[in-house]
Amino acid sequence: MNVSSLLIRHARILLADGKWLTGDVLVRDERIVEIAANITTTDVSREIDATGLILLPGIIDPQVHFREPGLEHKEDLTTASHACAKGGVTSFLEMPNTNPLTITQAALDDKLDRASQKSIVNYGFFIGATPANLPDIRSATPTCGIKVFMGSAHGDLLVGTAAVLEPIFAQGDRLIAVHAEDQARINQRKQEFAGITDPAIHSQIQDNQAALNATQLALDLSKKYQRRLHILHLSTAEEVELLRQDKPAWVTAEVTPQHLVLNTDAYAKIGTLAQMNPPLRSHHDNQVLWAGLLDGTIDFIATDHAPHTLAEKAKGYPNTPSGMPGVETALPVMLTQAVAGKCSIEQVSNWMSTAVAKAYNIPNKGSISIGYDADLVLVDVENYHPVERKDIVSKCGWSPFEGWNLTGYPVYTIVNGNIVYEKGAIRSTIKGKALRFDRSA
Ligand code: DOR
Repeated sequence: MNVSSLLIRHARILLADGKWLTGDVLVRDERIVEIAANITTTDVSREIDATGLILLPGIIDPQVHFREPGLEHKEDLTTASHACAKGGVTSFLEMPNTNPLTITQAALDDKLDRASQKSIVNYGFFIGATPANLPDIRSATPTCGIKVFMGSAHGDLLVGTAAVLEPIFAQGDRLIAVHAEDQARINQRKQEFAGITDPAIHSQIQDNQAALNATQLALDLSKKYQRRLHILHLSTAEEVELLRQDKPAWVTAEVTPQHLVLNTDAYAKIGTLAQMNPPLRSHHDNQVLWAGLLDGTIDFIATDHAPHTLAEKAKGYPNTPSGMPGVETALPVMLTQAVAGKCSIEQVSNWMSTAVAKAYNIPNKGSISIGYDADLVLVDVENYHPVERKDIVSKCGWSPFEGWNLTGYPVYTIVNGNIVYEKGAIRSTIKGKALRFDRSA
């Protein structure tokens, strides 16, 4: 009996070329070694009968805020990685707005060490840019890239003006991922709308123009220096239209499921739970974001999982923090859209796995291919059930999608050949691995 082997039988397998095969996948020593209609070996330590389930490459979530160190009352690497396993997320890229901020090699090393002890899925971390840490952002390793908050950040992480951004774009060659909001415009509009406590005003204070101004500036700097740029959580029709006209080959963009399927109507239903940065927009923005995703202007999907406690969310606008959780719901939200005909399951898998691995140069992931790491998710697109607060694993304990009747929930999630989630049960003894980022790719 081979001790580290897994045979998945009778699955509907999404192959690397986009074709489907009903059959079996054999995993040995953490990698996919065989894909065939019928694998006859019995020398395996575990078999899964996946009849009726779809096998996809595991989700790679390229924008999450997991709060450790320093903000563990909202989330930590244990609870967050459990939520990932439940949501089919087998790898994540985490943001630097923790406490301390991830702006030095020492802080990056500390996160990697914590994740190696706690995370049951694979992990990578951004290094944050400040107005004063150019040497750190150039030399830090391993990292998926440099996170630049052009807006919606406080203190050292705010890098809002062209003068401060210029040397960051000019020096070095690694990926720069921008949170594109114009902080000067936001500050001015905060004063104009001061005293309004209806959270719906959030989308007017941090308006479409604030997002467009910053995206335009980042794009201009990226073109000036031919610098690899990734625009995080695109939220407006105007940004899609800008990029559709003018998107160099070295620029990528992402969108969140919530910016695709939620809009400003959500404030009336869930109040400050709908408050995030960049804010939810109009129904028209939803439609143009979908069109941009479908025509390739937007490259992939990230959750921007940004949990806050219900007590924090109850403080009353504008004292409430922005952000919502997402890793548990993103895949079912998107697969429900696919089953409803909005897009295909193949496209969802590309946007949530294959295209992310390509953009961040993560070798050996994002595809069901021989020799690839066995990061896999088996989903059920036949049955529907509602998102319920009692089922949420994230420490924040709520979801903006409560009550949504979804399909495409993970039944098994597999990380490096190990089952980390099986029909509701999380296997917390498994540990994920640090992702590699191939800078020469
Ligand atoms: O809404 C948000 N919340 N957007 C971000 O970019 C940051 C995040 C957080 O960390 O809470």
